[in-house]
Amino acid sequence: MKKHIAVLPGDGIGEEVMTEALKVLACIAGRFEHQFVTTHGYVGGAAYERFGTHLPEETLSLCRSADAILFGSVGGLVSEQHLDKWRNCEANSILTLRKTFNFGANFRPVKIYPDLKEMSPLKAEIIDRGVDLLIIRELLGDSYFGEHKTFYQDERRIATDVIMYTEDQVAAVAHVAFKAAGGRRQKVTSVDKANVLDSSKLWRAVVHEVGRNYPEIKLEDMLVDNCAMQLIKDPSQFDVIVTTNMFGDILSDAAAVLPGSLGLLSSASINAEGFGLYEPPGGSAQDIAGTGKANPIAQILSTAQMLRFSFALEQEARAIEQSVETTLKAGYRTHDIYNPKQSAATKLVDCQQMSQQILAHLEAVQIAEPVA
Ligand code: IPM
Ligand code: MG
Repeated sequence: MKKHIAVLPGDGIGEEVMTEALKVLACIAGRFEHQFVTTHGYVGGAAYERFGTHLPEETLSLCRSADAILFGSVGGLVSEQHLDKWRNCEANSILTLRKTFNFGANFRPVKIYPDLKEMSPLKAEIIDRGVDLLIIRELLGDSYFGEHKTFYQDERRIATDVIMYTEDQVAAVAHVAFKAAGGRRQKVTSVDKANVLDSSKLWRAVVHEVGRNYPEIKLEDMLVDNCAMQLIKDPSQFDVIVTTNMFGDILSDAAAVLPGSLGLLSSASINAEGFGLYEPPGGSAQDIAGTGKANPIAQILSTAQMLRFSFALEQEARAIEQSVETTLKAGYRTHDIYNPKQSAATKLVDCQQMSQQILAHLEAVQIAEPVA
């Protein structure tokens, strides 16, 4: 298979974790006989320095001509947000990409690795029930893309952000969620605030209409405030959670804490044609950029998601995921997942050493013979 990939490392740790993810991609290409043509583009503060914009036209056209986008992270230090380079950087780059390519569904899987149990803030008895859930977040509606306005009335400031959903937007992401649950544990939890919001009443009604096409999938509704509590109290009850843009933003960050580090999480934003953007949702972590402390696993797992969703290379995606799990099982830990109390059983490594271990396992992964 030959595919063109737009590679946008961005800011902070983006560059260093991307370098490691591309080694993994090259290894997959070699072992499974694919050709991945990667072309780098600038985004975020890195783009602002060269082009005076966070998402230059050159980068957009690179993305348009690619088969998938591999994204790092964008944004600067909190203390530097007032600089032009960073002002609105995330919104200008990420939200514009979502809108331009109609990325209506965002996959954020959250799973607690048994070998990293001690890093989770949850009690062992909760983790032992098994935590493996997938948040599917709608990405093109809600207050993100409704009208934003700040104005004066009687010399007092007022600000409004319109929450808007069309039934087609809801139906599209609902289909994605039911299909995803079909390949998992057959359960969808739809999360809304239907006791208050009209947009949530529409959400709930449409998700149920779509659900009738998937009788084998169990559908339940949950209010967002309760869901926030349940994610911490009893996360094993969830398989697929489907929710609105803003609730998904908040709940996915809450759920991201469960495995113990943001550095383990991948994310995939996908449109109706299967074109996608793959990124670690953990942010640019400027405070540790260049120190070797970054965990490359999130970027490496995002690369696996790209192989799975955009190129239908399930075996290759699994090979990467397996190699990550084996590396963790063998005790290798980057700074974010290192627990000094476990130092006898684990080994603290830097970003590059972590990916070297993953690569070593990937080189050894058995490749299934194609069924004749
Ligand atoms: C995310 C981020 C973005 C969002 C920001 C950076 C605009 O928090 O991808 O979750 O709110 O969607
Ligand atoms: Mg977020």
